[in-house]
Amino acid sequence: MGIRNTALRYGTIAMALHWLIAAFVIANISLGLYMGDLPRSDPNKFTIIQIHKSIGLTVLVFSVIIVLWRLWNPPPALPKGTSAPMRLAAHATHFLLYFLIVAIPLTGYLLVSASPLGNSTPYFFLFDWPNLPFFSGMTREALHPIQHLFGRTHSILAWTAIVLVPLHILAALYHQFALRDNLLARIVPGMRVRGDA
Ligand code: HEM
Repeated sequence: MGIRNTALRYGTIAMALHWLIAAFVIANISLGLYMGDLPRSDPNKFTIIQIHKSIGLTVLVFSVIIVLWRLWNPPPALPKGTSAPMRLAAHATHFLLYFLIVAIPLTGYLLVSASPLGNSTPYFFLFDWPNLPFFSGMTREALHPIQHLFGRTHSILAWTAIVLVPLHILAALYHQFALRDNLLARIVPGMRVRGDA
């Protein structure tokens, strides 16, 4: 199994990034929903938000890398018999998922950067990850609607992912267990793909 994608399967870099991003996105959806329900007075709220931001910034970096890697290193084609509507559905879902894994953390970063509080992110409590500089110097009144807009967008995009991620998982399981075309093996480390060395 090489580091680059082949005509038959994903390489180790694409696989590692795929599963890390998947785990982090699921963790951050759970943390995001959980922290929203916590009262301001909860002593753990601050820590949980910083962990959410740290995981999200990691996703942002990994997502930019996976998109660039994919542009430079095309993925294996869909199975030969895939119908035109299924092809369209698969391509549309994958495109939207790539968009979301960049746009969700980016709007989170923008929302925090536009906060009048001006708190940066203590990245996993190891070092300080600065906010984006565009909003510094703006008044509290000017920042408020901007922060609100990014907050709403972050939430809507996250909810889109909450719908789309299970559909993506169901599609993979449908291929594996109903169509039995072993599509999952292309992205799971160690699973053998027919015809692969
Ligand atoms: C994989 C990336 C991310 C995912 C999946 C994600 C998901 C979520 C979800 C589901 C919520 C709750 C939305 C709601 O209650 O409707 C949320 C809220 C929030 N997220 Fe993220 N997030 C990500 C990245 C980030 C990043 C990078 C930051 C900042 C650096 C961030 C900052 C916040 C903040 C501050 C809130 C609370 C917003 C509010 O209550 O107004 N998120 N996120």
